[in-house]
Amino acid sequence: MKIGIPLEPEDETRVAIVPGSMKKLSKAGFEVYVEKGAGLKANYSDSDYSESGANVVNRDSVLDCDILISIRLPDVDALRSGQIIACVADPFRHPEKVKSCIKKGITLMSMDMIPRRLSRAQSMDVNSSQDNLAGYKAVLLGAAHVPRGIPMMTTSAGTVRPAKVVIMGSGVAGLQAIATAKRIGAIVYASDVRKSAAEQIESVGGRFIEVDGMDDFEDEAGYAKPLTPEFIQKVNDTVCEVASDADIIVTTARIFGRPAPITVPSNAVSNFKSGAVVVDMNADVGGNCEMTKQGEVYTTDNGVIIVGTSNLPGTLANTASMLYSNNLTTFITSLVDKENGFTISEEDDILVGAPEGNDFHVPGMGGVLICKDGELHPKQTRLGGVL
Ligand SMILES: NC(=O)c1ccc[n+]([C@@H]2O[C@H](COP(=O)([O-])OP(=O)(O)OC[C@H]3O[C@@H](n4cnc5c(N)ncnc54)[C@H](O)[C@@H]3O)[C@@H](O)[C@H]2O)c1
Repeated sequence: MKIGIPLEPEDETRVAIVPGSMKKLSKAGFEVYVEKGAGLKANYSDSDYSESGANVVNRDSVLDCDILISIRLPDVDALRSGQIIACVADPFRHPEKVKSCIKKGITLMSMDMIPRRLSRAQSMDVNSSQDNLAGYKAVLLGAAHVPRGIPMMTTSAGTVRPAKVVIMGSGVAGLQAIATAKRIGAIVYASDVRKSAAEQIESVGGRFIEVDGMDDFEDEAGYAKPLTPEFIQKVNDTVCEVASDADIIVTTARIFGRPAPITVPSNAVSNFKSGAVVVDMNADVGGNCEMTKQGEVYTTDNGVIIVGTSNLPGTLANTASMLYSNNLTTFITSLVDKENGFTISEEDDILVGAPEGNDFHVPGMGGVLICKDGELHPKQTRLGGVL
């Protein structure tokens, strides 16, 4: 079967498959067609691809392949019925794109829907591989913009105390942010709304910010549940009070399939000190800070620097592409059956979700298989509710 790797849209620096994955893909029986220049922004040249066995071709030839592997969902107008796409379609935020795949008779596999707690899914989990990099880069951006040093420094000119960093949301990105801030010498405080996060925060060197009356807001999939407005207010008041004398605040909080929750309201920013930096990792999906401007870095009237840089994994395009490519290569080769070749099987939990009775079954949520041959997959009833 032919796999096509398109050049991503202008504002995407990553490429879905890197030359290092060619060996595994061709061993599994795939022929790979890469669009000219697809890897350039991530430092993978056309000759790197051809030397590793890929065919470097024009866009039309790529879009004609049986399977397309990409980061963003390509424009389905250029595709034909029966083709298969594996990408990050973000279906709850972009239901209209899912509808256009259904209308066109395309089979869509959206990697952000992976039932990630199944152990087999871990090496295919693009949310984790990309969020981990985003958390790391968010701290580096904070350190680059803050007008002070981070570690404690004892010099003949005087002693510099370590910077205080507050991380809001301690999932994959947040935990990496805590570890990174700790490694560069900061004192790190962190919040979350899932009780299990407290132990994880402490294991990477952070101090958990306790909120009175905290319940466990974790759903069956391990994601945070939506909170009541009263509790959101209480969490925000407590955490923003701890952040009021922080040097760097990194926000990573998310609720699966919904806009990013506000963890830094405007009135909290006015209480932050001059020179503090807020790095909003969710600038692309609504922002955690009410004052974030997507894609911009600016300074507020009270001297707080707000960093709304878009697509943080894309700022580390070489590494991010390599990890994404590993995830997708593991995934797509897992669909090759020794006897039947490439198969989209109803028995595969990665495709259709953990079965009922399994601890990781999430009612209404299937797996990565969103629609097949023009039909929404019957297990995607939650998504059906928003289409
Ligand atoms: N294979 C696995 O078992 C596996 C893989 C990946 C992640 N996980 C776990 O899944 C969980 C979710 O991880 P994620 O990074 O995908 O989450 P996410 O990106 O959906 O959200 C980021 C974090 O924000 C938190 N959050 C939501 N609202 C908040 C608020 N108002 N204030 C503060 N924090 C808030 C969430 O609880 C989460 O920890 C984590 O426990 C992670 O370790 C498990």
